[in-house]
Amino acid sequence: MNTFKVAALAGDGIGPEVMREAIKVLRAAEKKFAFRIEMTEAPVGWAGIDADGKALPDSTLALCKTSDAILFGSVGLPDRDPTIPREERPERAALLRIRKEFGLFANLRPVKLPKALAHACPLAKERQGDGIDILVVRELTGGMYFGQPKKTESIGVGDFRATDTMVYTTPEIERIAHVAFKAAQLRRKKVTSIDKANVLENGVLWRDVVTRTGKHYPGVQLEHQFVDNAAMQLVLRPAQFDVMLCENMFGDILSDEAAALGGSLGMLPSASLGAASGGKVFGFYEPAGGTAPDIAGKNLANPIAQILSGALMLRHSFDLNEAATAIENAVGKAIEQGNRTGDIFSPNEPGAKKIGTREMGDAIAAAI
Ligand code: IPM
Ligand code: MG
Repeated sequence: MNTFKVAALAGDGIGPEVMREAIKVLRAAEKKFAFRIEMTEAPVGWAGIDADGKALPDSTLALCKTSDAILFGSVGLPDRDPTIPREERPERAALLRIRKEFGLFANLRPVKLPKALAHACPLAKERQGDGIDILVVRELTGGMYFGQPKKTESIGVGDFRATDTMVYTTPEIERIAHVAFKAAQLRRKKVTSIDKANVLENGVLWRDVVTRTGKHYPGVQLEHQFVDNAAMQLVLRPAQFDVMLCENMFGDILSDEAAALGGSLGMLPSASLGAASGGKVFGFYEPAGGTAPDIAGKNLANPIAQILSGALMLRHSFDLNEAATAIENAVGKAIEQGNRTGDIFSPNEPGAKKIGTREMGDAIAAAI
């Protein structure tokens, strides 16, 4: 039987409770499709700091290195200990570190508004067009997040200068562009590339390299949009988008905006992938929403983003397409049956039942 090693890092806030549901659903999928996941849990984020003094304990990193994939919850609690330096806080010391350490340059965030959740989309029905089904392909290891210099220096009494640097090279743009074009070939064959070529040098290079890379994919239509226009087009006419190709920070911003169109940030999974080696793709799978500390531990969080992240793991790292699709369909079925966590519930929707995190996980596991 196919066996895979997974590091399950639940992290902080709602991480542990949504992770529990994702594992439940993966176990249900294992029973139906012949594969086996050896799951090892380890602390990360504030949970790592509490357990071992570091947001990414050495033992957790070592576990990740011997695993086939990482299933990640979420990290970061803004209200905890402000005296800990920024570089040691979970967002940088765990999340950004893992992205860089494993070369996870390609972040895929699929946003799909299920028909049954049209009411949870903030846009009027007419604006939803034929439906919202967008794949945000975000570059994840370059741009402003990692560019050097990155520093804050004193320029006088009480005054500072903060510098972040946006840097991209041709090879970095090419490899993420290939990911977007390949993904589009399997979808509606359109890539909208996002940049700020009217102002940024980075934008000019981005547009050139993406245009050149696109020549290898004659079956895929390529369009360019400035990022400000793209932010507006998303709310005016989201149905025009198939694959949105973005550099790191633009992708961060636009993927949250797109997620809201998909009904809730609690429904947006993501896959962060490195280069394939030996036919295998090491991946890091996490919900795109945060730790939501305000609702943590209350059985209120929507576990769907975490569950769908598990499905992406089966598809991209383990080549278990059928099982991945079964999980996605089970989510669809649970929604059609009227199961709603608070974020997607509306009292005006006939047949909708407001349920908790655990019950949503049960409904999805049962639908497999
Ligand atoms: C995301 C998050 C992270 C990012 C934060 C938590 C560092 O917003 O994954 O979108 O900015 O990449
Ligand atoms: Mg973000």
